Parts: sequence; structure tokens; C-alpha cells
Amino acid sequence: MSQKQPARGGARSVPPRAFATGILLFVSGAVTALALVWMFGAAITAPNSNLAKSGGTVWGSEEKLKKKTAMRKLTKTFYDDPKVRYAIGEPVAGWDEKRREWLRVNPAFGDRGSPRPVSERVMVVTGSQLTRCKNPIGDNLSLRSLKNKVDYCRINGYDIFYNNLLLQPKMAGCWAKLPAIKAAMIAHPETEWVLWVDVDAFFMDMEFKFPFDRYEGYNLVVEGWNTYKMRTFTSLNAGVFLIRNCQWSMDFIEKWASMGPTSPDYAKWGVIQQALLKDKSDVESDDQSALLYLMLEKGKIWGDKIFLEEELNFQTHWVGSVEQLRNLTLSGVERDRLRRRRAEKATDVYDTKRRVEQRGLVGPPIMMHFAGCQPCSGKHNPAYGAESCWAGMEQALTYADNQVLRSFGLAHMNLSDPGAVSPLKRQ
Ligand SMILES: *[C@@H]1O[C@H](CO)[C@@H](O)[C@H](O)[C@H]1NC(C)=O
Ligand SMILES: *[C@@H]1O[C@H](CO)[C@@H](O)[C@H](O)[C@H]1NC(C)=O
Ligand SMILES: *[C@@H]1O[C@H](CO)[C@@H](O)[C@H](O)[C@H]1NC(C)=O
Repeated sequence: MSQKQPARGGARSVPPRAFATGILLFVSGAVTALALVWMFGAAITAPNSNLAKSGGTVWGSEEKLKKKTAMRKLTKTFYDDPKVRYAIGEPVAGWDEKRREWLRVNPAFGDRGSPRPVSERVMVVTGSQLTRCKNPIGDNLSLRSLKNKVDYCRINGYDIFYNNLLLQPKMAGCWAKLPAIKAAMIAHPETEWVLWVDVDAFFMDMEFKFPFDRYEGYNLVVEGWNTYKMRTFTSLNAGVFLIRNCQWSMDFIEKWASMGPTSPDYAKWGVIQQALLKDKSDVESDDQSALLYLMLEKGKIWGDKIFLEEELNFQTHWVGSVEQLRNLTLSGVERDRLRRRRAEKATDVYDTKRRVEQRGLVGPPIMMHFAGCQPCSGKHNPAYGAESCWAGMEQALTYADNQVLRSFGLAHMNLSDPGAVSPLKRQ
């Protein structure tokens, strides 16, 4: 112990710093006490603390404190209900009413207080593992993948939840997304749509907005290719999907997760999925096969709320497409487009309708999905060369970065050289 430090309760005068700390401790003590009282729901007024009387410096005046207390009491919500749990396996009931009521008592998050109508309020949920990647450039790719999503969200005014933990340890691997989505829905009752995006899927068109009016009346939007007829594992991709924050989704997620590793029938589900999907090679139950099972076998129960997006091509598989990005970058059309200046947030001119009419096939891809590359583990599908996977990701991420950098007057002209930027001169 340092000699200079005054002994506790000693006769020496307390130096000013320690005194300030004392106040802070006192205030946080008072706040804890308040929180406890709120929790037990007793009617109280703000304590007559000396700090509050003196006008306070840390938490504001007594008046303000009183107002805050009153507000908290008014806005008692489902969060105070111990029956509402975040974990899968503990179903939430009456979620639509709970959300509606929450929005009613928190009008700042309703249509009036939002830059976007509630019906378009989006939270991107994505993530990666906490541990270091085995692939030496895996962490670098994860970081750039995160940057890609952060940029997309910033430009479009969306929220993002990047999860790098197993919220329910048994639900690992491809199943980890479900607990994260459920928790995000409860933590964000103001969010209408959760957009799940795998770590190996990147936004190429930074201004793309999903055509939410097209999905009215639906609660899950997933891209597929003749899925109901093909009945194959690859006729659908569960790496990117939209799910509405509602009771239906809460129920669906429980059902979906019941084929996962927390189920006593986990092994059995893998066998059932393999019998259903002729091209499923892995005997373990996975989230994509489980989703396909619910669509193909339980369509009567769930199908009418699932929008199988077969027209708008929002995920482009990377094989054969990266070269197009390279060619596009070298073209005059792309350069002229990048040169057109505007403020980063001013993207409301974006023509979603036209993008949908053109099925996402005209212009750059909306998203590019490096399915099969496994950037973190490095265990890519043997059909692809590792080099083409990593080089492809690097070039796609650099192309995407051009869609961000343009607002800063810069662009990468060589997609293989992400460190180099050139000014975009007006002509
Ligand atoms: C990450 O990748 C970029 C692009 O290849 C490279 O320039 C940079 O040095 C890498 N950073 C680290 C920490 O490996
Ligand atoms: C890219 O451009 C090269 C050279 O012009 C051309 O040979 C190639 O077919 C183009 N690739 C694609 C996918 O358009
Ligand atoms: C693009 O960058 C790569 C990596 O630095 C380099 O090898 C290549 O020659 C460059 N291409 C052109 C056309 O400059």
C-alpha cells in the first residue's frame, strides 16, 4: 500500500479526490436503492439526499429526479414481468400485445419519433466467434465483414447487433443465430424486422433497401430457388433472411430450434432431414435443413407467413461473380456512378421498385455470399481453391468499400489492392 494514501477512518483530512469519490458512491447507492424500490413496486418519492437538495451535479436537481421516478413508474413494462425470458426453450406469450403496449408508453420510438416508419425499422443481427480464427487471415476478414455491415446500417439508418458469444452454449455453430435473434427481438421491441446476415455474406449495394411493402402480411422472408419443387438442401439459403419481430416469429423460432442441439431428438432430426433432402451430405441436423423441413413438411402450419423470395435475387453466390465486380470497377459506367456526389445519408432516391422489377439482376449484386468458404476456420469446400475464396472475399469487400468511400471522394481502382485509394475527380 502506498504511504501517501490516508488510512480509512483515520484522523487525517480526506483529500478532495477521495471526497468526490465518496459522493459518487453515495449517489450510486441512492440510485441502487431507488431501483430496488421500483422493482418491488412500492410508491415512494425521491429520497431527500443532500446531493439532490444542493441542486446536484451528477444526476440533476431534485425536481428532475422526481420526474424521472414518476416516469419510470408509468412505464412499467413487460421487462418487469419475470415470465418474459430471453432464452430459447422458454417461450414468450402475448408478444404482439406486449410490443404494442411498449410502443404506446414509449412514443418516441413509434412512427412519430423515428426517421423511418415502424414498418421498415430494421436491425441487422450478425456475428462471429469470440475465439481467434484458425485461418490466419480469418480475423481480418471477419473485421472487414463487420465493417461492411456497419457501413450498410449507418447509410440506411438501421441498427446492428453483432454477437460473438454463444448466448446458449449448446446452440453452437449454425444454431447460434436463433438465440441471438430472439434476444434481439426482446431487447428491441421497436424493431420491426430482424435481418440476419451470415459472416460470409457481404452487402455490395450499400443503398439497397428491402421491398418491405412486398413482404406485408409475411413474417419470414428467405431466398430460394424452386424450393418446393426441388426439395434439396441447396434450393434455399438460410444465411440471409428477414424475420418480423412478432409472436409468430417467437413461436417459429422455438419450433425451428426444437430440431437443434438442445433437443433430445437432435440425432433423429438429422436422419429425418437427410431422408427429406437428397443432397444433404452431413447427417447432423442443421438450421437450413430444419427450415426446409418446416417449409416442405409443415407448410400447412407455417407456410402462409413465409415469403419464399424467388424473384428478387438478393444473394449472389460468389463463384463466377467476383470477376464481374472486377470488370465493373474498370468500366466507365461504374466510375461515372461513383463520381456522382451526394451526402452519405441522402439515399432516399434509391429506386427499390425498379431494383425489384429488374430482379436485382441489373447493376451490381445486392449481396454476395461466400457460402462454402468458411473464412474463419479456413475449412472451405474442397471444390473451391482457398486462394480463390480469400482473394474473392477481399475483392468483394473492396468493391463494397467503394460504395462507401465514394461519399468521401475516394475509390479503390484495383480491387486486389485494398490499401490503395485514388481521389474521384469530377469531370
Ligand atoms: C488485413 O487485410 C488487408 C488487406 O489484405 C491488409 O492490407 C492488412 O495488412 C491486413 N491486416 C492484418 C492485421 O492482417
Ligand atoms: C471480364 O472482362 C474480360 C476482359 O474484357 C472478359 O474476357 C471476361 O469475359 C469478363 N468477365 C465477365 C464475367 O464479364
Ligand atoms: C492490383 O494490385 C495487385 C496487388 O497489389 C497487383 O499485384 C496487381 O498488379 C494490381 N493490378 C493492376 C492492374 O495494377
